[in-house]
Parts: sequence; structure tokens; C-alpha cells
Amino acid sequence: MMDPHGGTLVNLLADPSKDDRSDTPTLVLSRRAAADFEMLASGALSPLTGFMGQEDYQNVLNDMYLTDGFVWTIPVMLPIDDAERDQIGNQETVNLVSAEGDTVGSIAVQDIFKYDKEEEAEKVYLTTDHDHPGVARLFDQGNYYLAGDVTAHRLPSHERFGTYRKTAQELRQKFQEMEWRTVVAFQTRNPIHRAHEYITKCALELVDGLLLHPIVGETKGDDIPAEVRMDCYEAILDNYYPHRHTVLSVFPAFMRYAGPREAVFHAITRKNYGCTHFIVGRDHAGVRDYYGTYDAQRIFDRFSRDELGIEPMFFEHAFYCKRTDLMATTKTSRAMDHEKIYLSGSKVRETLMKGERLPEEFTRPEVEVILRRYYQNE
Ligand code: ADX
Ligand code: MG
Repeated sequence: MMDPHGGTLVNLLADPSKDDRSDTPTLVLSRRAAADFEMLASGALSPLTGFMGQEDYQNVLNDMYLTDGFVWTIPVMLPIDDAERDQIGNQETVNLVSAEGDTVGSIAVQDIFKYDKEEEAEKVYLTTDHDHPGVARLFDQGNYYLAGDVTAHRLPSHERFGTYRKTAQELRQKFQEMEWRTVVAFQTRNPIHRAHEYITKCALELVDGLLLHPIVGETKGDDIPAEVRMDCYEAILDNYYPHRHTVLSVFPAFMRYAGPREAVFHAITRKNYGCTHFIVGRDHAGVRDYYGTYDAQRIFDRFSRDELGIEPMFFEHAFYCKRTDLMATTKTSRAMDHEKIYLSGSKVRETLMKGERLPEEFTRPEVEVILRRYYQNE
């Protein structure tokens, strides 16, 4: 099995008793902070043991490495506003509270620092345009970062996707039970369509197992909610994927829409879950036209395979080829444009909102029914 990033899988779960002091200040986690907390507590962010301090933050922004030399492309930060900063004062420990009011863990305050939002936007998102959903979020959040090691009393409780939530350790265990030596992970934020099915199956031809790992943290407003997407995965798994070679689980992170940098982040976090390969297709983690179609593949050239520790599998734009009646990519098909069937996310939304059908060459009918029902009830 693939070693976790940095060599050891971080386990932050610890007995809560020592933090039960009544004078400890509390911080209510936003949905996004709670998602990062869950990622930390799940071991998915190994070797990180908490929210990043200034040195790691600057190294990640400038060089895409942590201070200890491991590749890391996306800052993992705990933003706080001025009032929260005043309330924390110079306390050494802060209890972390979920939106539901449960104390889920604590942070040993190492530093509180101001940061430059323009700089972070430019370096992580390659744009300072406030129309970019990741940049908008950045400019919307508090002006300080709270840094320090995290202790998790437990994983946040969730009503949704209970059985699909698995820590890095649990998925590693699962892969061992399946007797898979090689596992390819598929990151996605969209309902599964035939291009997804095609690239995941092409990848699966070369390895033992496939982890379908949809992101279920916050996504932008017009992306399809995780509940609906999960219904689609269940429907399609039942009919179109061999159970002995496929596992469905959820990835608790929130979407940054940072394109290339997020693709590397998506890969190294999947390595922590025990995967050996990672799919990167067209415009991975991109939004509108902020990134070039294959920029999220090219960024992998900057790192050696050794320091990544997970093998990226690149795919060109996939579509249904009418000439051969097969799914194909620009690499394997001679189809002219009018012989290709593919739809953009916005075209799919538009079609479904009008109550029109999606072609079977684009979506399996089992998925189409679920999507149409969702849009009709919107
Ligand atoms: S995201 O994380 O990249 O935003 P999305 O669901 O849109 O999620 O895509 C999941 C994965 O499939 C990404 O690696 C993406 O590059 C790839 N992908 C999506 N559609 C296609 C396509 N038509 N051809 C090739 N790759 C695709
Ligand atoms: Mg996409």
C-alpha cells in the first residue's frame, strides 16, 4: 500500500477530558472550517497536524512545499475575524465547536496573523477577480489566520452519507480487504456522466480498484448538491460498475476551484486514503475559463514522482463519438466536431431547467431521471 504523504498517517483523535476547562474560549467553525477540521481528523491532510502557521503558509504560496520539504499546494487555514481574535486574546487553547453546537476538538494556539488576500488570490487562484468563487470566499472571510495543532475529540457528526464517510485509515483497511494493490481515485463535484464513466473505466483497466470519491463539502451555488449526486452514483454503481472493483466513499473537503493547484492537493490527499493513482482529466477543479484545459495536468511536471508519491493518470477531453458509436477522446477518435456528443455543465443545467431530456450518449438514463426530478422541484 502507498505510504501516506510525509510517511506517517496523522491521527488527531484524542481523549477530550484534558480540554474540558470552563475558561477555554470557543470558536464556532464555519462549514468550510468544519470541512477542513474533518479532513485533518480523518488523516486526509497528513502530514499536517493542524491549521498552518505563517512559515508553511508562505512556503506553500511561494514554492508549493511545506517547510519540512513535502509538496503542498493549497493553504489549509483557519480564518477568524477581528471580534474572534479579540475574544481569543492570548489564550493557549481554543475549543472548536460545530455549527450544531458540539465541541468537536480544540486547537493549541501557536500564532494569530494577518495575511494578504490579494497575494493569496494571485498565487493560489491565479486571479484576483472577485467573480471567481474561491477568490470571492477568500475576500469574504476574516482578516486573520489562527494557526496551531488540532486535537479532535471525534469526527463531526453527520446526518448525511453516514456509511460513505470513511477516514483515511478506514479506506486503507477497506482496500486491503478488497485485496487491491493498486487503486485509482476519482475526484468529482458533478453528477456522473458518460465521460466520467469512460475515463474511470479506462483507468480501472490498468489497476485493481477504483475509488469514486465525490467531494461533499461546500460547492458553489449552481453546482448540483451532494445528496443528488450521491443518488446518481448509487444508481449508476448498481448497473454499470463491477462491485468487486469499485468503492464509493465521500471526500469531506470543500471545493476551492483553484484548478492546477487544487489538482495536486486532490492527488496527495487521495494518496493518504491509500490510493496509488489519481485521475486528472480536462480542466480539473476549474471554473469557467480561468484555467487552460490541461493546466491542471501540466502542473504535475513540476514535481518528481517520488515527492508526489501518487501516479497521476491524465485524460484528454472525452465525448461520445458518433462515427464509432463509442466513448472516445481526442487521442483515440477521428470524429469531426459534428460527430461528437458532449455537453458543458451549463448546457446540462439549461437543458434540464427547460424540462428537456439529456441524450443517452451523454448521461445514463438512471442518472438523467434523478437530475430531471431535481431540476423540476427546484
Ligand atoms: S472537478 O473536481 O474537476 O471540478 P468534475 O466533476 O468537473 O470535478 O470532474 C471530475 C474529473 O473528471 C476531473 O478530473 C475532470 O478533469 C474530469 N473530466 C470531467 N469531464 C471530462 C471530460 N469530458 N473529458 C475528460 N475528463 C473530464
Ligand atoms: Mg469540470
